[in-house]
Amino acid sequence: MSNKQTVYWIVDKNKDNLHKCSEIKEAALWIKQGEVVAFPTETVYGLGGNAMMDDAIEKIFTAKGRPSDNPLIVHVASKEQVRMLVLEIPTLAEMLMDAFWPGPLTIVLPSNNSVSQRVTANLSTVAVRIPDHPVALALLEEANVPVAAPSANVSGKPSPTTAQHVNHDLNGKIKGIVDGGKTGVGVESTVVDCTEAIPVILRPGGITKEQLEHVAGPVKVDPALEQEGNTPRSPGVKYTHYAPNAEMYLVTDYPQRLQMIVDTYRQEGKRVGVLTTEEAVSNYEADLILTCGFREDLETVASNLYATLRQFDEHEIDIILAETFPKQGVGEAIMNRLEKAAGKKVI
Ligand code: TXA
Ligand code: MG
Repeated sequence: MSNKQTVYWIVDKNKDNLHKCSEIKEAALWIKQGEVVAFPTETVYGLGGNAMMDDAIEKIFTAKGRPSDNPLIVHVASKEQVRMLVLEIPTLAEMLMDAFWPGPLTIVLPSNNSVSQRVTANLSTVAVRIPDHPVALALLEEANVPVAAPSANVSGKPSPTTAQHVNHDLNGKIKGIVDGGKTGVGVESTVVDCTEAIPVILRPGGITKEQLEHVAGPVKVDPALEQEGNTPRSPGVKYTHYAPNAEMYLVTDYPQRLQMIVDTYRQEGKRVGVLTTEEAVSNYEADLILTCGFREDLETVASNLYATLRQFDEHEIDIILAETFPKQGVGEAIMNRLEKAAGKKVI
């Protein structure tokens, strides 16, 4: 599909009665009718299409260049809408919904097959969430259909945290972009499978394991996230993701050893970038040194991570050397994304 002109709607997320504003109404109508529109959520921008329509879902996969065996998350405005898509909502799942929705938590439930088979990639389950963003909620309410939405980036690239990132990747390939400003959390939602007695984290994200356990008791982590060789239960997890064009390495020993590696690559004539934190920025000399915030404030690091990865590409950096982060709290999601961006290349 090609939309020669992508419509660009600017919406102030703090405005009252957002669902009444003409930009939201127009975008919602396009979604309802089967076109695809990008919109902000609290995590990253999503590329939304009517989850009941095969055609609309096809357009999402085409625009992103996404492998068709990777299912999509269905976004809804209310728990009542979830009931219409699933066979049942187990008690633990309901507890998690009540604790974290609207918010960055996606829950995998047994599907009743009402959404397009393209959304679920023929799985017997469906992933659902209520996003915590006034623009997303207004759009979902106004469209009044479940909206399938992956991150609004070209498949494999860092997810978009601004409308400009979406425009860079998808301009001319989608009907429209609702610009509601920079997103907040910055990494995607946590995906948790609630089809068995004990919930299983399939993808770490904005809600931490500790937060889930506080509400639902013991929670498992899909072994495929930790060990090579296991088939992941979240199909999307197996693809290279979040990767800038530059080749990226994670360095566990910094700053001295990281700087030595910078020097070696620069001697080979490469343009080298360093991804570090505010506390450590003065330790390095390289072609481009970027930070996502203070190491002590991992929420801010998560929020800025993807935009920073994209910046290295804007400056045509050949090699990125990134410091590692503790896998605690949202650090788990940060390291998951960095490891994927680096294709697990750790020095
Ligand atoms: O924060 C987010 O989750 C963003 C915003 C736009 O909501 N969306 C997002 O979508 O990250 P996407 O398509 O980039 O990632 C969806 C993830 C993939 O890893 C996919 O495999 C998994 O969710 N998923 C979707 N449906 C599933 C299912 N039925 N069973 C297991 N995993 C599923
Ligand atoms: Mg994605």
